[in-house]
Amino acid sequence: MFQGRWHSGRRKVNRCTFQPPASRGAALFCTFPVAATARAGYRTGVQTLDPQTRVPSGALASRASARNTGPLLETLGAHLPARGRVLEVASGAGEHAVAFARARPGLEWTPSDPSAEARASITAHAAAAALPNLNPPMALDVLDEGGWPHGPVEAVVCINMIHISPWAATGGLMRLAGRVLRRPGGLLALYGPYREAEVELAPSNAAFDASLKGRNPDWGLRERAAVEAAARAEGLVLTRRVEMPANNLTLLFRRVSA
Ligand SMILES: C[S@@+](CC[C@H](N)C(=O)[O-])C[C@H]1O[C@@H](n2cnc3c(N)ncnc32)[C@H](O)[C@@H]1O
Repeated sequence: MFQGRWHSGRRKVNRCTFQPPASRGAALFCTFPVAATARAGYRTGVQTLDPQTRVPSGALASRASARNTGPLLETLGAHLPARGRVLEVASGAGEHAVAFARARPGLEWTPSDPSAEARASITAHAAAAALPNLNPPMALDVLDEGGWPHGPVEAVVCINMIHISPWAATGGLMRLAGRVLRRPGGLLALYGPYREAEVELAPSNAAFDASLKGRNPDWGLRERAAVEAAARAEGLVLTRRVEMPANNLTLLFRRVSA
């Protein structure tokens, strides 16, 4: 359900809200910050968009994706295999899926999201991009094991979901990754902000955590060690921690045994 509103100020941020499938019951909302103002002719039927970027009809735009896609391509690009299948969990608007599929033609990229609105946006971005290696989005909820694919895939990518979903979603993500990453060396790549015992929480992340919890008490920044333990329980071991812009981390896990 689109719940965004138009704002008049150029610097203000509009947020569109996705509602999860009714069957989930739990409040699993995701917001995509999008630009408040859109130039005439750039506005489409269901969303606002970044004034710098033309967005295909029916697609959503995310300011965060515009900022982090370049660094993610660079960081993940060095670790994704040259060929193989990638399952992206919680693809949201779909901009990362298009960017990765375009940059890595040897990969068969499958985006997914439980939100019908997100999948419609992914489909719109994908139609405009017309990439042969980008599959249609799957309706995949990490809390609904019955709908999970069986794989195998060579990599699972999940960007900015863990802190905007209940902790159970992290467990689901790890079990899913454990199921589809069957071969040793299989890669699980996570991106987002985390708490770390050995690192002082940046004020911006503390404020973000508070705002997430204000919107939903089950959301919030996760302890990296707890995420690591959940992955290890599925045979996935943290092999790399990369500091990213704006106090985010890329965490790379590998399957160590079949
Ligand atoms: C902040 S958005 C991130 C979207 C995209 N990865 C990005 O970085 O722009 C969080 C996404 O997580 C998805 N999500 C929330 N709960 C989920 C669940 N249980 N299973 C799979 N995806 C979920 C939402 O539908 C939403 O698209």
